[in-house]
Amino acid sequence: MSEELLKLQEISKSFGGIRALKNVSLTISIGERLAIIGPNGAGKTTLFNVINGVYKPDTGRVFFANVDVTDLPAFKRTRMGMARAFQIPRPFPTMSVLDNVMVSALFAGKFKSVGEARERADEVLELVGLANKKHELAVNLTSPEKKLLELARALAPKPKLLLLDEIVAGIPPAEVDRIMLLVRNVSEKENIAVVALVEHVMRVLKYVERVIFLHEGRVLMDDKPEKVLSSETVKNIYLGRIYD
Ligand SMILES: Nc1ncnc2c1ncn2[C@@H]1O[C@H](COP(=O)(O)OP(=O)(O)OP(=O)(O)O)[C@@H](O)[C@H]1O
Ligand SMILES: [Mg+2]
Repeated sequence: MSEELLKLQEISKSFGGIRALKNVSLTISIGERLAIIGPNGAGKTTLFNVINGVYKPDTGRVFFANVDVTDLPAFKRTRMGMARAFQIPRPFPTMSVLDNVMVSALFAGKFKSVGEARERADEVLELVGLANKKHELAVNLTSPEKKLLELARALAPKPKLLLLDEIVAGIPPAEVDRIMLLVRNVSEKENIAVVALVEHVMRVLKYVERVIFLHEGRVLMDDKPEKVLSSETVKNIYLGRIYD
């Protein structure tokens, strides 16, 4: 049996009159990789924000590593092992690549010394293929390299859960494959669960084991990628856009 890492229990969240999430329950196991898909306004970003503590749900509870984290702010969840890579990378532009990753490692409070954080930063930069750029200023990286740096910063604290917010949006297909392959490798190597919010569904699904399809704030499907993709409901709601 796989061990539970994250559990959402009957989560609801409204903004004024808009019910963005309606009674969403789901569990994610240690080391599992899944994608959250759904049309515009389905509640994907809201769900992410409830998971990592940007939003507190109106009702329902969030458990992470068997701890009720519903009332904990985002930074405390980071320290417990949640990491998030943003769609728009947010490095410190005038710091080196290495320093950016080190700051992230140190912020999570995981390492006892600067030396240990430095070791982890070197390891992570090797993993994502940026070791040869470590003394470069972040501002000088290309756009795909900035995504890799964003990933390196998310991985630096050795998270248990990696939340990828459209990490591959707006980059060339070959780079998408490279980044997703890398994510899968690191996830397997370090037993990190991955939840990816994805727009370009088809290109990403071969790197995950499970897909959650959100629609109007509810989980409509939660199954293997091929099952979700072949579902008539999903095809109808996406109106073909799924194959973009
Ligand atoms: N901060 C907010 N204030 C008001 N309404 C919001 C807020 N965030 C989300 N909503 C509304 O909640 C619903 C779900 O939005 P959400 O951003 O979670 O959807 P999404 O699936 O991420 O969509 P997209 O694919 O467009 O990013 C939408 O109707 C949206 O307009
Ligand atoms: Mg969104």
